Amino acid sequence: MLQTIFRTHTCGELRPSDINQMTTLCGWVHRVRDKGSLIWVDLRDRYGITQLVAEEGKTQPEILQQLKSLGREFVIQATGKVIERVSKNPNLSTGDIEIWVEKLELLNPAKTPPFLIEDETDGGDELRMQLRYLDLRRNVVRKNLELRHQVNQATRQYLDSLGFMDVETPVLIKSTPEGARDFVVPSRMHPGQFYALPQSPQTFKQILMVAGIDRYYQIVKCFRDEDLRADRQPEFTQIDCEMAFVTQADVLQTFEGLIRSIFKTVKNIDLPPLPVMTYADAMRLYGSDKPDLRFGMEFVELTQLAQGKGFGVFDQAEAVLAICAKGCAHYTRKQLDELTEFVKRPQIGAKGLVYVRYNEDGSLKSSVDKFYTEADLTAWVKATQAQKGDLILVLSGTLAATRKQLSELRLEMGTQLGLRNKNRYVAHWIVDFPLVEWDEEAQRWFAMHHPFTSPKPEDIPLIESDLGAVRANAYDMVINGVEVGGGSIRIHDKGLQNTMLRKLGFSAEEAQAQFGFLMDAFEYGAPPHGGIAFGFDRLCALLGGADSIRDFIAFPKNNAGRDVMINSPSPIDAAQLKELGITTTQK
Ligand code: AMO
Repeated sequence: MLQTIFRTHTCGELRPSDINQMTTLCGWVHRVRDKGSLIWVDLRDRYGITQLVAEEGKTQPEILQQLKSLGREFVIQATGKVIERVSKNPNLSTGDIEIWVEKLELLNPAKTPPFLIEDETDGGDELRMQLRYLDLRRNVVRKNLELRHQVNQATRQYLDSLGFMDVETPVLIKSTPEGARDFVVPSRMHPGQFYALPQSPQTFKQILMVAGIDRYYQIVKCFRDEDLRADRQPEFTQIDCEMAFVTQADVLQTFEGLIRSIFKTVKNIDLPPLPVMTYADAMRLYGSDKPDLRFGMEFVELTQLAQGKGFGVFDQAEAVLAICAKGCAHYTRKQLDELTEFVKRPQIGAKGLVYVRYNEDGSLKSSVDKFYTEADLTAWVKATQAQKGDLILVLSGTLAATRKQLSELRLEMGTQLGLRNKNRYVAHWIVDFPLVEWDEEAQRWFAMHHPFTSPKPEDIPLIESDLGAVRANAYDMVINGVEVGGGSIRIHDKGLQNTMLRKLGFSAEEAQAQFGFLMDAFEYGAPPHGGIAFGFDRLCALLGGADSIRDFIAFPKNNAGRDVMINSPSPIDAAQLKELGITTTQK
């Protein structure tokens, strides 16, 4: 520890080898235990807790008095001799020693915090967010920030070692078509005109490739005005990367290396090489483009077997899909009803759930016994490879909806069966995404990744004839069912880029107005290039074994997109609005 005028050591540093040394510590009063003649104070800083001690008759009365008047979270400076502790505390790194106080300086008193600065606190979410500085004093929260710092350092070290250059791109830009809404900033000097905050530095990093910076990275803030969830914040951080003169295989190899290096450095985990799965397989086997592969429970198609037996629901369905839940035949009626309620929740939207119990005694019991003979159900058992004691769960409907619903049910069963251990990591790539998806409401195609993504060369002929079937040179990295990163090989040819924009419904004028700068750049010698961006907050949450990225951001927004500490967003005064040329009807 770097010594300063204020302190010689930190509160996590002193050990028995320091006994008899004089020390000066600074920190916050964590706890005071006053036993009358003896008084102990736990002094806390970022590095740990050290016990201070004083005794009536031996310590100067005024120091004793000072110690007795300390309250929780007072800021003090204490000087004294390091002595061996009589009753040692094995739970504390400094638990073998204590400080015999000889001098005490009150640096600042404190109001009593409205919640405990402990791992298990009594403070509610809103209150802790309002007083985030107190929340950040808690070990558990600070540790998350430390982990974030380590991931940041490991990232920089790896990318730097491969010649990647950190280049900052602007924050006041113009819309990037990433798919979400933009946050905009009014321009005072150009009334009626707006900057947009970047949803990602996508176009800038591509321009950097044209500029010859063939390996770029940036740990960068991105802004998206979208509905919030546990894994989404309106302002979040990406590890944004781009490379020139690369194929998809080069990109996957480079960034698989990054993730493995982060896991090794931060968690000492050796991730095995990442398997590559196509989007089509992921959808067929797990109904999701980000399957949690910590467990199997793959989908089995029962459409053919289940149709034509008089059960109208299945007969009319485009798809009948099943999963086999190992060892769940004993599920009670109540448990099965709960599962049915689960899939019928509006967020999931299934009409109902069919089950088949393959009991330990070999008998079969289903919720559709009226329509299916034992032989029929035996065929389902065979198809799903169910064993005695297993439970088969079946959903039906349109293919897309059934996949989505069964994917949710699969995750729920994985959770119920304890197959989603947070300390086990299974990472993989998903490749060959469709280039575009059809939006029923807007009645037009949208780029699935973004409009700069290159089609697979062998699918280029399909662009005119069957756009929906064109696969993209795009890839996502998924860890434990979380999309931690995504990217693509880009189009670097102006003609192809123009065709794509036309197919996405941009007129030539709109394309020129929105992306003219990029297409102009492509005329001056654009190298083949591709890249990826990782969700830095998501990666940290995963490494920290948490679901919510909020805990890994020093000053996050709440679920309503508010920063309750600084109370933002907030109105601005009329004069400011006028200066910006904005008129509003709101008070
Ligand atoms: P994409 O939009 O897939 O790609 O974003 C990359 C990664 O960023 C994370 N992410 C988020 N994390 C927290 N809150 C959010 N609101 C949020 N949105 C996205 C995800 C995601 O995988 N420019 C392209 C990348 C490229 O093509 O190189 C892009 O931004 O983990």
